[in-house]
Amino acid sequence: MAKTFTIAVDGPAAAGKGTISKAVAAHFGFAHLDTGLLYRAVGAKLLLGMEPITAAQTLTAEDLEADDLRSPEVAQAASKVAVIAEVRAALLDFQRSFARRAGGAVLDGRDIGTVICPNAEAKLFVTASAEVRADRRFAELAASGAAISRAQVLADVKERDARDRDRAEAPLKPAEDAVEIDTSEMKIEVAIEAAIAVIEAKQAG
Ligand code: CDP
Repeated sequence: MAKTFTIAVDGPAAAGKGTISKAVAAHFGFAHLDTGLLYRAVGAKLLLGMEPITAAQTLTAEDLEADDLRSPEVAQAASKVAVIAEVRAALLDFQRSFARRAGGAVLDGRDIGTVICPNAEAKLFVTASAEVRADRRFAELAASGAAISRAQVLADVKERDARDRDRAEAPLKPAEDAVEIDTSEMKIEVAIEAAIAVIEAKQAG
C-alpha cells in the first residue's frame, strides 16, 4: 500500500501558499487540499444569511465549487467565521483524514503545522511582505475582472492577517519545526524549488 506523507504549508494571506502547494503536490504526485476554501465556503454561506456553525457542520463538496469563493468579500467573511471554535472543530476530521490518505498529501492554510497535523513529516511557513502580497493579490483580482483598488486589497490583507494572528483558536503562526520561505524577493519558480528541496531533505531522513 502507498505510504502516507503529510506536507503542511502555512502562511499569511496571498503569500503564495496555493501556487507552491499545487506545484509541490504535482512534483511528488501527492493530493492537495486548499483548506482556505473550506473557510471561504462557510464565509460565503454566512453572507447568504446562514448560521456559520450549522454551515460548517453541513458543508458538502459541492459548496466548495460555489461561485465567487475567491472574492475579497468572501475572504473577509472566511476570516470572521474562522475565529469560531465550533466552525474549526467541524472542519477538523475532514482535514486530518485528507492528510493521512495513502500516497501523500499537501495541505495549505494557517494552522496545518500547528493544530491539524502537528506530526506532519514536512512543514513550510511561506511569507512575504504585506506590500508584495497585496501586489500579487491585486494582479490576480484585476485579471479576474474584480473592481477593487490596490489600496483596498492591501487594507484587506492587513485586516485579515491581524484577525488570523490575534485569534484565540488556532492563530496564524509558524510551527516550531517549520522551515520559513520568504518569497518577497523570490520568483515563484525559485520558491517552488526551495520548497521541494526542503521536502526532499525530510524524505531523505
Ligand atoms: O488565499 P488566501 O491566503 O488569501 O486565503 P485562504 O487561504 O483562502 O483563507 C481565507 C481565510 O480562511 C483566512 O484569512 C483565514 O481566516 C481562514 N483560514 C483559517 O483560519 N485556517 C485555515 N487552515 C485556512 C484558512
